[in-house]
Amino acid sequence: MANKLKDIFKNMLSVKNADDLISASKHSELKKTLNVFDLIILGIGAVVGTGIFTIVGIAAQGGNGGIAAGPALSISMIIAALSCIFSALCYSEFASMIPVAGSAYTYTYATMGEFMAWMVGWILMLEYAIGNITVASAWTGYFMQFLKGFDHVLPGWLVNPPIWLVNDYRTALAICDKTGVNPHDTIPYLFDTIPVAINVPAIFIVLLLTLLLVKGVKESTKVATVMVFINLFIIMSFILVGCFYVKPENWVPFAPNGFEGIFMGAFIIFFAYIGFDAISTAAEETKNPQRDLPIGILGTLLICTILYVATALVLTGMVNYQTIDVQAPIASAMRFVGQNKIAGCISIGALAGLTSVLLVYQLGTTRILYAICRDRFLPKGLRRIHRHNRTPYILTWLSAIVVILGSLVMDLKISAELCNFGTFLSFIIVCAAVLILRKTEPDRPRAFKVPFVPLFPILGILTSGGLMLYSFKELKTSSAWFVAWLVGGVLIYVFYGYKQKRLEEKRKNFYKNIDK
Ligand code: ALA
Repeated sequence: MANKLKDIFKNMLSVKNADDLISASKHSELKKTLNVFDLIILGIGAVVGTGIFTIVGIAAQGGNGGIAAGPALSISMIIAALSCIFSALCYSEFASMIPVAGSAYTYTYATMGEFMAWMVGWILMLEYAIGNITVASAWTGYFMQFLKGFDHVLPGWLVNPPIWLVNDYRTALAICDKTGVNPHDTIPYLFDTIPVAINVPAIFIVLLLTLLLVKGVKESTKVATVMVFINLFIIMSFILVGCFYVKPENWVPFAPNGFEGIFMGAFIIFFAYIGFDAISTAAEETKNPQRDLPIGILGTLLICTILYVATALVLTGMVNYQTIDVQAPIASAMRFVGQNKIAGCISIGALAGLTSVLLVYQLGTTRILYAICRDRFLPKGLRRIHRHNRTPYILTWLSAIVVILGSLVMDLKISAELCNFGTFLSFIIVCAAVLILRKTEPDRPRAFKVPFVPLFPILGILTSGGLMLYSFKELKTSSAWFVAWLVGGVLIYVFYGYKQKRLEEKRKNFYKNIDK
């Protein structure tokens, strides 16, 4: 019994040799087409979206009774960026050392063994697939706002559809509650007890992007490039036009809720930075990963931080922080100063930004799942590559189905919080993994090295860990979902992954013996 347990632990802690990982990726069937420009586009495409177009208002104004950061949101932005920069440096070291699909999943496999690797892969699904549920819901919000701009030409049923066709059921019920409408009068019920809501625009955009992703990664980054340029143009226009309407008296008091408001703002706005790590998921499709991945990751973070801080300063300077609109803060600020045309364009920019986030996250989900299936933690057949397009089409469709089903039952807030939890945990693990590999393989060539080790990785662990523990205490529902997700991951490993791994080892040993 004791020996059996010892074996189980040994297997759970068995690490994958980094050289094996690299050599396996050399035989990758994925096409190597991406350069540093494509990577930065992918990065900005993954980062700039819901956070800066929607969540920025909640962080500055406080949302539903929350603590407002006020004009000091720009400081919150810098704190959130600092908590990301340590993890970004650690991601860069790994991406330049082990440029293999799978991101944090692969890095964990090389340092902490198979069990932790599987768990990280499973947790990354929270960041990518569940995060995409948030973005798809926000997409519907902006899409409906965009349609409303044409209410004089479009039919009424399109501009004002029933709420159960443009929301998840929780949001639909919340709207009924807020407006004092009996839900049984507006929402269909299954067996008279289960409310049914189908977010049709969200499903439509997810299906459309899935078709594009199945076609090819280069085609997808081409679309992302167009989206990112529209998005950046709109944000820069907001900053450049908006700065002429800034009234410095709106910046007083600068931090109405002191440090508490600033830290709460940092926690909320963290969502806006998530995504730079998505670049590392495309490692196997990058032409010169050792050089280009660190530039892509750090470049993205730098560009986004500058844009975000400027946006926060202009927004809180244009409108008193207490009157910022939480649904569409940027567009409403322009409307507030009489720039209605620019406000309309901002909805288009937001749609472009959210579309690119969706695209890159769907891409990231499939590439992580691809690596997980390659290691047999999930059925190997799922990673089948499309004969003509050379993309993992089954996994791509599977990720789409997860987002579509999730969008039926989860609302924007819960999915965003779950996404934050998953991201914090993966950042902590990657920072710890850098420390471990520096000890276990100090001589392995590192094209990029985190400076000031162990200080910087430790600061990464402390900042992400601090924000995570803080939110865990505050957000009861999503922390319960998070724990349930982790338990689900352990069960899949125990009943499927562990056994498949051992069968694979047996198979390999069998063929090795035959060769001898
Ligand atoms: N950072 C991404 C967004 O804001 C997740 O949409």
